[in-house]
Amino acid sequence: MAGLLGSLLLLVLQTFAAPPDFVPAGDLDPEGLQWANGTAGPSLAPPPGTSQRVPHSIIIGVRKGGTRALLEMLDIHPSVAAAATEVHFFDWDENYSRGFDWYRGLMPYSYPHQITVEKTPGYFTSAQAPERIRAMNASIKLLLILRDPAERVVSDYTQVYFNRLEARKPVRPIEDLLVRGGALNTRYKAIQRSLYHLHMRNWLRYFPLEQIHLVDGDTLVRDPLPELRRVERFLELPPRIAASNFYFNQTKGFYCIRSDGRERCLHESKGRPHPPVNGTVLRQLRAYFRPHNRSFYRMVGRTFHWH
Ligand code: A3P
Repeated sequence: MAGLLGSLLLLVLQTFAAPPDFVPAGDLDPEGLQWANGTAGPSLAPPPGTSQRVPHSIIIGVRKGGTRALLEMLDIHPSVAAAATEVHFFDWDENYSRGFDWYRGLMPYSYPHQITVEKTPGYFTSAQAPERIRAMNASIKLLLILRDPAERVVSDYTQVYFNRLEARKPVRPIEDLLVRGGALNTRYKAIQRSLYHLHMRNWLRYFPLEQIHLVDGDTLVRDPLPELRRVERFLELPPRIAASNFYFNQTKGFYCIRSDGRERCLHESKGRPHPPVNGTVLRQLRAYFRPHNRSFYRMVGRTFHWH
């Protein structure tokens, strides 16, 4: 009885409360889905025959690349069990020091035929995450969703902007952060995170390229199914995600998900309008990324349609 109560309590905690120290102030990424019919609510008792297992696959980033959309769309697959919250196990020392049992305890209950997937976008830009993930499972399958690096900067800014507004902190126009002393402020964190080849180089020190599947985040927005098909193949899952699992929501301006008789869109923080950026500054930003993007294309042997 005590054991059952214990697991119930754990499940309730897991489902409804990300520990407050999970998210750095100002960087908070509101997650989750909005159910079109207003229903929600996972069942409380773990179904018999299920257990919590460390991930078979991790979405490592990139922040604002479309990581939540990718996870939720992948979760349509009956053989996938997705972690509800961003765990920040491999990128935050404090969490990593809690050990693998703590990590496993944050994973969803899954059946033996299912694979567990978690996503923490901060892993991609973390210096320690690749080595730590390899130490857990050297043959793990990694998913990396990327989008146009300049667009990603603006999206990153927009997220922090709204988080600061909510926290009643002062906000600045994006140009103030992008430009310092008349030149592009390349030390701005959002720009640093978009230098994909620098971060990718670190991952390739620990994993072969074949173990990191790249998802085109710009394509996922326009036409999710082909990207999901490629992910199914990479994860060696039978194709189960279908065109009927997606519908375009005119109000949101994005694809939403239809599965298990329910329709749902991503949280309102996903797909927010971006602020207009001064044209000259935007051109400077795009020009700055051009050689970095080329380095990335060479590194991964593939071209993306970034400006
Ligand atoms: P914007 O909010 O800047 O448009 P992440 O989940 O990694 O934070 O990424 C957020 C981005 O996911 C959004 O950035 C949006 O462009 C993208 N996205 C991709 N598919 C989406 C979908 N179906 N609904 C909402 N956002 C989606």
